[in-house]
Amino acid sequence: MSELQLVILKTVGEQGSVANTLDVPVLAKEEATTLHSALTSLWAKEMIEFSKLETEQWVLTKEAEEIVAAGSHEFRLLEEVLKSLDGLKISDVNSKLGQVGKLGQGKAFKNGWIAKDGDKLVAKVETLPEDAAVTQLKTIAETGTLSEKKDLAELKKRKLISMNKIVGFKITKAAKFALTITTYETDITSEMVTSGKWKDAEFKPYNFNSEGVYPQSGALHPLNKVREEFRQIFFSMGFTEMPSNQYVETGFWNFDTLFVPQQHPARDLQDTFYLKDPVKAGKPDDEEYWQNIKKVHQEGKYGSIGYRYPWKEDESLRMVLRTHTTAISSAMLHQLAKDPKPCRLFSIDRVFRNEAVDATHLAEFHQVEGVLAGYDITLGDLIGFMEDFFAKMGVHGLRFKAAYNPYTEPSLEIFAYHKGLGKWVEIGNSGMFRPEMLEPMGLPKNLRVLGWGLSLERPTMIKYGVSNIRELLGHKVSLDFIETNPAARLDEDLV
Ligand code: PHE
Repeated sequence: MSELQLVILKTVGEQGSVANTLDVPVLAKEEATTLHSALTSLWAKEMIEFSKLETEQWVLTKEAEEIVAAGSHEFRLLEEVLKSLDGLKISDVNSKLGQVGKLGQGKAFKNGWIAKDGDKLVAKVETLPEDAAVTQLKTIAETGTLSEKKDLAELKKRKLISMNKIVGFKITKAAKFALTITTYETDITSEMVTSGKWKDAEFKPYNFNSEGVYPQSGALHPLNKVREEFRQIFFSMGFTEMPSNQYVETGFWNFDTLFVPQQHPARDLQDTFYLKDPVKAGKPDDEEYWQNIKKVHQEGKYGSIGYRYPWKEDESLRMVLRTHTTAISSAMLHQLAKDPKPCRLFSIDRVFRNEAVDATHLAEFHQVEGVLAGYDITLGDLIGFMEDFFAKMGVHGLRFKAAYNPYTEPSLEIFAYHKGLGKWVEIGNSGMFRPEMLEPMGLPKNLRVLGWGLSLERPTMIKYGVSNIRELLGHKVSLDFIETNPAARLDEDLV
């Protein structure tokens, strides 16, 4: 138990109460913070009540202390003038007094102590008057103040005094006041129970006002929250999630099956990340499909004239970080060909592109992708479906623009009006998959497939007001941002 706490109790015990600890020498010598923590601890035991008293006190500056020791500037100047019997030459003031002479002149004139006589300063008084400034400063050093506010203001202006707040405490007895401190037990132990000690033990009361420790828990990343919203929309529309948990694909699935020719710029090193090790994968099991893909590119098949270039197996087997989740959609449609029927599939996962990184682009992002297969569905179905899908997010009044994808024909870019930006923004890409993609798989001609894709980052950034993508993904993300942002709701204010 701290010595100081006992001193406090003793003082309060002797005096009944303490009006201000500053008036009690044993307590006044303690730092206010030390005193405060001792008092708080006694207060918690309901032994005392206390309150803080702040007193304003004027203290002397360093310059003022020098003045108290040596006299005020004006006083010293006058002393010097009195010493020189027929006046002090103005040109000598500096060599005799230095700065003091300069600083004291104004006040000495004002006090009527000296006057100018030609090139000399002469005394207007015969004996040394009282050095008022020193007297005042001495009073302040003793009492912390002066009765004349005007004098205080003047000394403050001359930077001779400054205000200091000193803290004292008022202390009174409380219900459990005593001169000694009982230590309370905080926990009941098995030893106390077996020995029977618990009967006499005094227990510390629970403090129900203290704040608990916030439990450590995980937090969903905003991208995951928005992803979850999209998943629910897909599920509500009868979609099944595709297994998209593989980042590495072959050129075959990422490009060739999607009728992306091997010379396509998207396949350049500048756009796609290729694996160094292993460089190549083995051939897929479905030899017939493999041959169909080769043929449809090289010579054409299924009524298509193809691209007419020598299709290279090695190029097709190169390993890539997938550039879109459409690689997965393609593999799933290839599966579907074993038992063709209408179906609805989606995936939301990460893709990689060799992009110049800036505020809105990273070399990796997430795609939301949907694929819908149905007998004899048309472009009208695609447009109608897109309107339904985006309406679930509160995005209405879509506009479509003809576009180009190697694997879809027709292809449509989807636009929505962004109220915040006051302009039309592209929100997705879509199309009807080409026969050159679907027929090599063995899907029947009239089972048509539409697909679309959009990024997960864009709606997330809009939703959470993030303007720099690097604040959303990567090492610059603030954990606080991740932990405290609200749940996502895809509704009216999205686009
Ligand atoms: N793969 C396209 C993209 O990367 C999206 C898309 C998917 C387009 C399916 C049409 C059909 O943007």
